[in-house]
Amino acid sequence: MSLLLTNAAIVSMDQSDADYEVQPNYFIAIEHGKITQIGAMQDISSMQKQSAENHKQIIDCQNRLITPGLIDSHTHLVFAGNRAKEFEQRLTGVPYETIAKQGGGILSTVNATRIATEQQLVELALKRLSALTADGVTTIEIKSGYGLTLEDELKMLCAAKQLEQHANIKVSTTLLAAHAVPPEYKGDADSYIRYVCDEIIPAAVDAKLVDAVDVFCEGIGFNLAQTKAVFEAALTHGLNIKGHTEQLSNLGGSELAATMGATSVDHIEYLDEQGVKALAKHGTVATLLPGAFYFLRETQYPPIELLRQYKVPMAIATDFNPGTSPIASLTMMMNMGCTLFRLTPEEALRGVTCNAATALGLQDSRGQIRVGYDADLAIWNIEHPSQLAYEVGIPRLYARIVGGNLCKVLCKELCKELSND
Ligand code: NIG
Ligand code: FE
Repeated sequence: MSLLLTNAAIVSMDQSDADYEVQPNYFIAIEHGKITQIGAMQDISSMQKQSAENHKQIIDCQNRLITPGLIDSHTHLVFAGNRAKEFEQRLTGVPYETIAKQGGGILSTVNATRIATEQQLVELALKRLSALTADGVTTIEIKSGYGLTLEDELKMLCAAKQLEQHANIKVSTTLLAAHAVPPEYKGDADSYIRYVCDEIIPAAVDAKLVDAVDVFCEGIGFNLAQTKAVFEAALTHGLNIKGHTEQLSNLGGSELAATMGATSVDHIEYLDEQGVKALAKHGTVATLLPGAFYFLRETQYPPIELLRQYKVPMAIATDFNPGTSPIASLTMMMNMGCTLFRLTPEEALRGVTCNAATALGLQDSRGQIRVGYDADLAIWNIEHPSQLAYEVGIPRLYARIVGGNLCKVLCKELCKELSND
């Protein structure tokens, strides 16, 4: 299947330090799911004449802006139940950590998720996913972590993978069995960690269900030694590692993760300069989750200036989950990244494209509009890329292209099918 986009205004962010540029009047040729040519429209006849006639489908973009398809690099999209009651409780002043210590929080979603079937989980996740795809998302990372038994963790990962068959989306899966100590192991976190390392990780690898392993390294999660053990097991199996670190306190989890080669550390409100230096040294992405910051009414800000100073790439993600970020809009997160954390709209766009790809270890194939990269694109009805972070709630997506397949063209008359003969 081949596709030719004409009259495209390409938002380019190739050089990491340069500002984004908009290059109007370009074409993008796509074959077998990859970008094969990018050029100026004036050169299309010499470069493309032959092949243009052979392209099955041509879309005249009428100089709409084209960005890489957005990448939501941190979500907990698969779960059952909701935590509206806990939200009410927190509004009366009960802290998130207190609710967790009383057996609510993550464990209440574990109860609901364990009794749900895989099919029910898929159906619930599809609704949430439709909001994200309408916002230009073409790749999503989805974590387990509400099963906490081998069977239930694999059930969650299977549900996450199944989404690719039901929606035009690419899914990257992360095993987060080390999210909380399950009731069966109460008071014996070390034994649970052994179960995660010796049984759950190998089973997820055997079933080919997992791309990365994550740990909630926190006072109400797992300590440094337990985190290290899980990362070591993951690395033994050739998996990427990443961490929920420095969200509520500073345990040094980000530094540990970076030293062990983590692709990203996420939340990081309590990260200090030593931690930032470690990220810079090891090329680990700092993933900002403004939705959780906002929803928990956090007052500790992530160290944005230090991250800039040490040139640590920053990603932004929804962290969509029932407890700390039930907000299914990645462009809303771009807006929050700017308003709450003072990112520039350009940093926010990098955060959901090229830096998000790096956070998933996909920097060589996704997150940029480049020849040889996956043809995952978002076509927008906007005049300038800064509008993606500026406006909230206004439908601006014209179409997505996922692996070279055109999805959801809102103005069908502008897309003409050409026959081969
Ligand atoms: O990213 N911090 C740990 N995990 C999730 C929240 C999970 C939950 O509360 O259900 C997070 O914030
Ligand atoms: Fe999370």
